[in-house]
Amino acid sequence: MTNRGFTLWFTGLSGAGKSTLAEIIEQKLKDRGRYVEVLDGDIVRTNLSKGLGFSKEDRDTNIRRIGFVAHLLSRNGVAAITAAISPYRDIRDECRAMIGNFVEVYVKCPVSVCADRDVKGLYAKAIAGEIPHFTGVSDPYEEPENAEIVVETDLESKEASADKIIARLEELGYLDPVASSCATAGDEDDELVRQRLEELGYV
Ligand code: ADX
Repeated sequence: MTNRGFTLWFTGLSGAGKSTLAEIIEQKLKDRGRYVEVLDGDIVRTNLSKGLGFSKEDRDTNIRRIGFVAHLLSRNGVAAITAAISPYRDIRDECRAMIGNFVEVYVKCPVSVCADRDVKGLYAKAIAGEIPHFTGVSDPYEEPENAEIVVETDLESKEASADKIIARLEELGYLDPVASSCATAGDEDDELVRQRLEELGYV
């Protein structure tokens, strides 16, 4: 059984679906017996990164902290899932280099769709100029250029996006494919039954 730790690094605009997908994947990995930890931007900012704002410098500090913890976890066999906007490519790539077993998921969704969803009511305020430096509105978001996975949450269902992520993790060797591991167990069982029947003189 594969127990290689890795970091699944979600990046994308606020409201694109990072936390939702992180939760679905967390459950799917737990169902497969893996140790999982989710580092969600909104939650990290209430403890580990409490007091940090949204300047480039503060965001970089936030992301480096998240990256450092993900590194500690994933080198010990944990599946670390991060879900922060992480808008700057250079810091994401710095985390990639530090962590090694790094799987970047670009949660792609046009800013207009995120603003329509406006789950937290922040886009309306940002567009009205009440929140300065809001990612995608008045602050940059640098799209990944070589993400291992791209999901388009305005075009596909969350289940489809989650399935795509799991399939890619299997392909990359971080997860055992369920179908083939069942097939192996089935073959072994068949062989045991055959041997037992042979011992009993039936075959
Ligand atoms: S990051 O840029 O440092 O990666 P992080 O993911 O931790 O950001 O936090 C983003 C969350 O903070 C958003 O989902 C939103 O709820 C809130 N937020 C408050 N102010 C801003 C802002 N100026 N830009 C983006 N998100 C903001």
